[in-house]
Amino acid sequence: MSEDGFWGLDLDSIVKEHGTPTYVVNLDLVEKNFEALSSTVRRIYSRFKIFYAVKANPLITILKLVRELGGGAEVVSMGELEASRRAGLNGGEVLFNGPGKTEVEIEAAIGFGVYSVNVESVEELMTVRKAAERLRVKARVGFRVNPGVKAATHKYLALGFQGSKFGLDAKSYRAALHEAKRTRRFLPMGVQMHVGSQVFRESDFQKGFLNLLRFVNVFKSVLGFPPEFIDIGGGIGLNYETGDTSISLNRFSRALSKLVNNPDWPDGTTLVMEPGRALVGNAGILLTRVLYVKESNGRLWAIVDAGMNDFMRTALYGVKHRVVSLTPRRGRPVKYALGGPVCESSDVFGEYVLPPLKKGDLLALLDVGAYGCSMSSNYNGRPRPPTLVSRLGRVHVAERRETIDDILRRQAVG
Ligand SMILES: Cc1ncc(COP(=O)(O)O)c(C=O)c1O
Repeated sequence: MSEDGFWGLDLDSIVKEHGTPTYVVNLDLVEKNFEALSSTVRRIYSRFKIFYAVKANPLITILKLVRELGGGAEVVSMGELEASRRAGLNGGEVLFNGPGKTEVEIEAAIGFGVYSVNVESVEELMTVRKAAERLRVKARVGFRVNPGVKAATHKYLALGFQGSKFGLDAKSYRAALHEAKRTRRFLPMGVQMHVGSQVFRESDFQKGFLNLLRFVNVFKSVLGFPPEFIDIGGGIGLNYETGDTSISLNRFSRALSKLVNNPDWPDGTTLVMEPGRALVGNAGILLTRVLYVKESNGRLWAIVDAGMNDFMRTALYGVKHRVVSLTPRRGRPVKYALGGPVCESSDVFGEYVLPPLKKGDLLALLDVGAYGCSMSSNYNGRPRPPTLVSRLGRVHVAERRETIDDILRRQAVG
């Protein structure tokens, strides 16, 4: 993202009207990211589908755009399924994932006619069967496998290592395939895996892809036909120092090229991808105001009005996002520790060298389009911020600010 002019938006007017903290998402950039990924993949393999990982940012406005661009949605809950439906996606454009789908969710997904419910255990497959029996349909199922890759990423973002809670290991995968073959309630569609998020090492993608092909071969040998789709998950990393995905995308595409040119890759199979961060990560900023500037034992603090409840990536993963000051001020840059209003020592965004700050100054936290507003909470009784989106120079409120009534409404005082 360019820091000059911020996509040509008048951010001062935006905050005058909508206050802070406020997310702003640039849909033109989401489109650009989508096209960059599609064109890269198209050069390697033309039969592919992009199912956007809704968890990265579940705004219906984004889902609509993804749909316009020819993509679908990867969902992991009833809420994400419903958001996709409201964005106008049809069943065939939705993929249902997640290690703990409930019976209700599974039935809703099958009823909606999703492209595939990707199961992660034999018990889950039996739950799918019951739902299919109730609905008197055949359920399209995929098998999420554990690729056994310990990706070089934050330990909370590595999902595909051996013994993780995600996916089927080789033994339960075989058992699930045999079960699927035995029962006529299934249409076994594909094999899926996800190495993890923020992956930058080509070898992590490659190991995952190669292991996935082993699972594909087992699919063919047990069921007697090749999978209709092979789903390689998401994980393309965003460089939070530059706001750019190109390094990871290059490595991902090299690994992808080896995958589809492998003799075990079945002809005509659809390649499925589930990118989240790579599509929206660098397309969002969080606007926040300085509430107070103070010194504490020689350390200079700027307390801002966005907290870990609004944006929790720093508190959760210890990562630092770029911050820029939007209030022009003369003077030598100074080192500030930026902290939020939440009563936790983890509610700190890091140390930044910034032009002198004063109460009321406006700052922007960059590259917060993925896992920003989607991870926000009401901790400390704080209403969640709004998200404004810009598209072709026009700005609208995609999600309004939460009110105190919104957050107290569910309580009953006995
Ligand atoms: C199954 C699955 N697919 C896709 C994604 C999206 O990952 P990313 O945003 O790193 O592309 C995730 C993220 O956790 C995931 O769990």
